Amino acid sequence: MAAPWFEDELAAELAPLLPALRLEVVAEIDSTSSELMRRARDGRHAPALLVAEHQTAGRGRLGRAWESARDAPREVAPLMFSLGLPLAPRDWSGLSLAVGVSVAESLDPSGAAGVALKWPNDLWVQDRKLCGILIETALLQAESAERYVVIGIGVNIGPRRADGLRTAPAWLQEWRPQATAAMVLRELLPPLLRDLGLFAERGFVPFADRFAARDTLRGRDVTLSDGTEGHCEGVGWGGELLVRTADGLQTITSSEVSVRPRRAAP
Ligand code: BTN
Repeated sequence: MAAPWFEDELAAELAPLLPALRLEVVAEIDSTSSELMRRARDGRHAPALLVAEHQTAGRGRLGRAWESARDAPREVAPLMFSLGLPLAPRDWSGLSLAVGVSVAESLDPSGAAGVALKWPNDLWVQDRKLCGILIETALLQAESAERYVVIGIGVNIGPRRADGLRTAPAWLQEWRPQATAAMVLRELLPPLLRDLGLFAERGFVPFADRFAARDTLRGRDVTLSDGTEGHCEGVGWGGELLVRTADGLQTITSSEVSVRPRRAAP
């Protein structure tokens, strides 16, 4: 592997947070998330971080594809990785939002770049998509509260073509021209592991205000994928989306529902 991913430094930084974590960087794979889910189904449940320089069948939420250009130069290549680990929170609701909060705060700590959260966990900048997050879980043992969770994250680092994308892309180098995938991986993993620990202990509640501070849908008119129109009132304590419609307040928990703002961000 030629690319400098600073695996030794990263391993040393992460060891105190998740001692058994195994790091792996591959040049190409179908999908880092598919691979960790396959391993989980084979009974391989150790904490794992799998980074890919190219994915041939990257996956997004709602069965969508996550494309990555095969020959992107290393300096502008996207960051694509999956983190797999056993987790046993008291309440799983809001996990994907909590992960979004953690990544958004790492990519734009002060908020000056305008990195916002679009429910449940896309990261947007001025209504363009910077980062997508896919969360899947596998059962560990029947009747156990613990599950193996696979968190797949894709971040646009350099310019990306808008062709075929539902949402126009944003990329990190718009405001951090020197940023690389390896640098960003190192920045976001330690806070992500800490936030996963916080979520396991206390659920979504400590993330609710942090989400609200970056919630791009709150206060905007929205359309749901079933055609319902309404006004977004933010998210509840369990991470559910609150939408005021003609029939009253609807709480949307299903990750199968997608939601779009009706007009561009002011
Ligand atoms: C979405 O936008 O709907 C989620 C996109 C998630 C993409 C990442 S890239 C690394 C990991 N492997 C995948 O196949 N998907 C996730």
